[in-house]
Amino acid sequence: MGVLARDLSCLVLVVVCLILSVSELCNCGITSSYLRNDDLSLDMPLDSDVFRVPPGYNAPQQVHITQGDHVGKGVIVSWVTPDEPGSSTVLYWAENSQLKGRADGFVLTYKYFNYTSGYIHHCTINNLEFDTKYYYEVGIGNSARQFWFRTPPKVGPDVPYTFGLIGDLGQTHDSNRTLTHYELNPTKGQTVLFVGDLSYADDYPFHDNNRWDTWGRFTERNAAYQPWIWTAGNHEIDFAPNLGEPIPFKPYTNRYHVPYKASDSTSPFWYSIKRASTYIIVMSSYSAYGKYTPQYKWLENELPKVNRTETPWLIVLMHSPLYNSYVHHYMEGETMRVIYEEWFVEYKVDVVFAGHVHAYERSERVSNIAYNIVNGLCTPISDQSAPVYITIGDGGNLEGLVTEMTEPQPSYSAYREASFGHGILDIKNRTHAYFGWNRNQDGYAVEADSIWLLNRYWSPSERSSVAAQ
Ligand SMILES: [Fe+2]
Repeated sequence: MGVLARDLSCLVLVVVCLILSVSELCNCGITSSYLRNDDLSLDMPLDSDVFRVPPGYNAPQQVHITQGDHVGKGVIVSWVTPDEPGSSTVLYWAENSQLKGRADGFVLTYKYFNYTSGYIHHCTINNLEFDTKYYYEVGIGNSARQFWFRTPPKVGPDVPYTFGLIGDLGQTHDSNRTLTHYELNPTKGQTVLFVGDLSYADDYPFHDNNRWDTWGRFTERNAAYQPWIWTAGNHEIDFAPNLGEPIPFKPYTNRYHVPYKASDSTSPFWYSIKRASTYIIVMSSYSAYGKYTPQYKWLENELPKVNRTETPWLIVLMHSPLYNSYVHHYMEGETMRVIYEEWFVEYKVDVVFAGHVHAYERSERVSNIAYNIVNGLCTPISDQSAPVYITIGDGGNLEGLVTEMTEPQPSYSAYREASFGHGILDIKNRTHAYFGWNRNQDGYAVEADSIWLLNRYWSPSERSSVAAQ
């Protein structure tokens, strides 16, 4: 018996060693077994109910809001009146209050090739109370329309807050599914972090800007009630010198205003806001970002300003991902990674969200900053000071999914799946946040991928002492 037991234990030891050695060698990232076809989904037809024009002469349409200052006490309200300028005034009042405030905005129009826009209004409301529900009204007479929003709680380290993550949305039936699933998610998002590529109007002949209008009407049902934080993508560039349109970002900058001056930025394409316990930095993949450029200088000054004891969560939004193992757009973010990854690690950015690739991917915490061209250290390594990189360009636009992946799955890639969907970033306190990715095909209640994010600013012992409280 003694000999048999010894043989058995030897066998167990050999098997364990084999398993360990295989797991050392194997790549542990997950490529989802979900298989999609890459059929293109058409945009919803112009007479779809989601594009319905509100009734009434010159009724405001395409209503959307975004944060209007640096800390969340301001809101920019934007809308379009189709027939005449009308009023650029917003009336607003706190819930349970009869006292109406009034903010005066301004109106603009723009032309793009053979298209002339409606009257686009932008109005900033300032000095709101934190954590308060406000009603607001735009338009005049019988055509006036009412909406509401809730301001975020006062900025502070342990303020829970929930963000939705949407990218590359477009206006197909899949786009509508993504937005509906976001709205129906039992974890209610309070603000959308949008990682670029809005309407895809530029995929139409002459960049048909009517598709910017339909997109504005489609998203109003959510964007009029909660702020969408905008990032510019390549489909916002609309650079078409052959059409006599050589100025980049013309439709986007006329339609979507952001509070860039509040963070001392000189451009709407890069800026920052604080919201609850987060510090959000928006970057532009399609503006100059090399050393000495305005964007570079701004970020160089910006990162040291972030007070992690006030806003422990440091989040970066950009359009083109720095880590991407799909074939499509492979390495497009590489030049930006070479310049900025070192700062992201130094300043312990918690998570970098990007879009562009029409699929989902989450990275391990890795960095690739040791490489200097001649030393051969070109493989990303595990780095606990590095952010998690999440690609969420899977909103569902007319260009369809990308399904082709680089093989084998690189070690930096933790999970990848070519499905449409949306994300929820649910911040619990200064140390813990939960990120879930919901694929459309499962219905709203199923998360296909999730991760607990442990805040990078605090040491492991500080994190566990907060968790124990
Ligand atoms: Fe893109």
